[in-house]
Parts: sequence; C-alpha cells; structure tokens
Amino acid sequence: MRKVAVVGVGITRFGELWNSSLRNLTIEAGIKALNDAGVPGERVDALYTGCMSGDMFIKQGHIASLIADYGGLLPVPSTRVESACASGGLAVRQGLMAIASGMANIVVVGGVEKMTDALGSQTTGYLASAADQEWESFNGATFPSLYALMARRHMYEYGTTEEQLSLVAVKNHHNGSLNPNAHFQFEVSLEKVMNSSFVADPLRLFHCSPVSDGAACVVLASEDKAKELSDDPIWIIGSGQASGAIGIYDRDDICTIDSTVNAGKSAYKMAGITPKDIDFAEVHDCFTIAEIINIEDLGFFKKGEGGKAVEEGITSLDGELPINPSGGLKAKGHPVGATGVAQVVEAVTQLRGKAGKRQIKDAEIGLTHNIGGSGGTAVVHIFSR
Ligand code: COA
Repeated sequence: MRKVAVVGVGITRFGELWNSSLRNLTIEAGIKALNDAGVPGERVDALYTGCMSGDMFIKQGHIASLIADYGGLLPVPSTRVESACASGGLAVRQGLMAIASGMANIVVVGGVEKMTDALGSQTTGYLASAADQEWESFNGATFPSLYALMARRHMYEYGTTEEQLSLVAVKNHHNGSLNPNAHFQFEVSLEKVMNSSFVADPLRLFHCSPVSDGAACVVLASEDKAKELSDDPIWIIGSGQASGAIGIYDRDDICTIDSTVNAGKSAYKMAGITPKDIDFAEVHDCFTIAEIINIEDLGFFKKGEGGKAVEEGITSLDGELPINPSGGLKAKGHPVGATGVAQVVEAVTQLRGKAGKRQIKDAEIGLTHNIGGSGGTAVVHIFSR
C-alpha cells in the first residue's frame, strides 16, 4: 500500500449562508485547497465529494457531475459519497484508497451540505431518513430523540450528569469562539446551557449541533507527489471504517457505539499506535452525549468516565487531550456532508501549527472521527507530521 499525505486544505465559513449555493460553497473550498497545495486542476486524477442529502435539502442530485463541471475539472472521474453524516469522512477514505492502490496520484476530496434553505420541520425529517425508516423514523423518532435515549441510559448506567453533558457545550463553544469559520463564535456559560429549552429530554438546545451550510476540501497526494508539492505534508498513518446496527433498538448496549470501537481499532492497528499516542482529536459531537460516548469508545477514557474527563478539563484546549479544538459539530457547525472533511482540515491545520488562537502546543499526532446517523457507520483517520 502506498503512503498518502494531505498537501492542501480549504474550508468555507459555516453557518446560515443564504447568499451561497451548494455549488458555490464547494468550489470556494476547492479553490482554497488547490491553491494551498499549489496544484492546478489539470493534475487532479480523481474527485470525491461527500454529500448526504442534496437531493432532499435543495432537490439537487447528481452532485458528482455538478461539482466536476462547475469546478472546471472535466473530464476528471468524479464520485459522490453518501453515508449520512459520515459522508465526508468516507469520501476522504475513498480518496486515500484510490492513491494507496496506485489508481491515482493526486485526488481532491470535498464535503458539502446546504441545509438552511429547507424549513426546520423538513430538515428534521430529511435527517431522520438516516435512521431506520421502518422501525425508527416512521414511528416518529428523530436524531435528537435517539441520542436522548442514549444519554438517559448513560446517565442511569454511569452517573453521567446534566452538568457534564453541558460542559461539553461550554468547552466546544469556547473553542468555536476562537475559530473564524465557526457557525457559533461565542462562548456560553454553564447556566445558559443548563437553562436552554428542551429539544428531547434530557437534551437541550445547547446540547445539540446546529443545522448549518458549509463546505470543506482537502487535496491528497502519493508520497512522491507530496514531497514534490509540499514542505509540510501531513501523513495519513491510519484509517478505519466500520458498520454498526442502523437502529439503536438493535444494539446490545446503547451506551456504546460499536462502529466507533471497531473503526478506531482498525485505524490504531494500521498506524501501529494506541490511544495514548494521540495528542488531540476531532470527534463527532452531533449531540454532547455523543462526544462523551465516543471519547470512551475510541479508548481515550474508560467506559463511563468520559463525562468526568470533560469535567476535569482533560479535554479542554489546554488539557492533556484536547477534544474538538475547532469547536466541534456543536459550535463549528454541522453541515452534515462537509463535517468529516472539515475535521481533517482542522487536524491538518493543527499539525501544521497554523491554528492561531486555538493552536494546541506540540501536536504530533491527531485523530478524526466521523459518524453516520446514530452509529450505523463510523470512520476514523489518524494523521502525523
Ligand atoms: N445550539 C445553539 N443555538 C442554536 C442551535 C443549537 N444547536 N440551533 C439553533 N440555535 C439558535 C439559533 O441561532 C437561533 O438563535 P437566535 O434566535 O438568537 O437567532 C435560535 O436558536 C432559533 O433557531 P432555529 O433555527 O429556529 O432553531 P430550531 O428550534 O429550528 O432548531 C434544533 C434547533 C436543535 C432542533 C436544530 O438545530 C437541530 O435539529 N439540531 C440537530 C441537527 C441534527 O440532528 N443533525 C444530525 C445529527 S445526527
């Protein structure tokens, strides 16, 4: 298998971006990434775009063709990748495999979603299509309600508290306040989080990621091309993907996301490292309980101790293991198809030492973790300078 590096990154502002369309957002992120890599469009061998639901949010299908065409990259082979909120992470993995196999040398991977043109009630329904339609969403289950069930059980089994759920949001909003591309660039107090309105008990407004527009893009290259193009290539040393039961009713334990455990194990094995070697991580915090469960399932903390780790400041920007320095899905925003690629943009920016006010000191190895739905899919990547 050939070595693969990230040689360019680009990202748009995340938020309610009513003046930008899906194609404009993708192209903006793409141009930034290609300029960052110093790669002209003619040298691109393949294009992958993570997008969950363009067909539903803006009634635009055939995203792969649209992006290749509007991006001026014709006739490059272009592929749309869909796996709910893990679409972006999975697109990165497809790009990695294309280069590792020798089929391509330079690949552009984008991720995009334009969510805020739809009404809130429509959006909730479109997102719920990533749950089990027959047994969950048809009966009224939404993602806030599914994660609320996971939160309630975690509280019952391990004593996780409402304060701990809320402190994830306080931390991630602090990090987001330092990120000029974040959807929410303001701090929140514990009191404000704990008094915000219920969305699905015990989850409140500030325990949820928002509905966002945005795009992100990375340029990947084979070892020889990476050395030619970049003085500071960031190597992808581990990659893991796993599937889990699509519905939470079908799981032995809803306090664990099996796909996260298995994708993490594969990525650590490929990188030849353990969770102790990770300096920081971008973790899928679509709801604050998800961050707590996932930092346990990735092996950073024992099962049941994720909330305590947040409370003790271990996962803060200046803690032993910073989690979600970008602000995470909670504050940076969650344009679903873009999220997995945006996590990689943050990991690379941190490892290059270019994260400005949210820079983590002496970061050598970073991990990204992206989930589809309530855990039907998980993708983990590990990066090194
Ligand atoms: N956190 C903090 N503030 C939020 C927010 C969030 N997640 N979502 C919206 N807001 C704010 C808005 O900025 C707005 O503030 P303003 O009045 O000061 O301008 C206010 O709340 C109302 O915004 P609105 O868009 O009307 O909110 P809503 O009630 O329609 O939606 C949620 C709120 C939580 C239901 C929605 O953000 C949501 O569904 N989030 C989860 C998305 C999801 O499931 N993603 C997939 C995960 S698997």
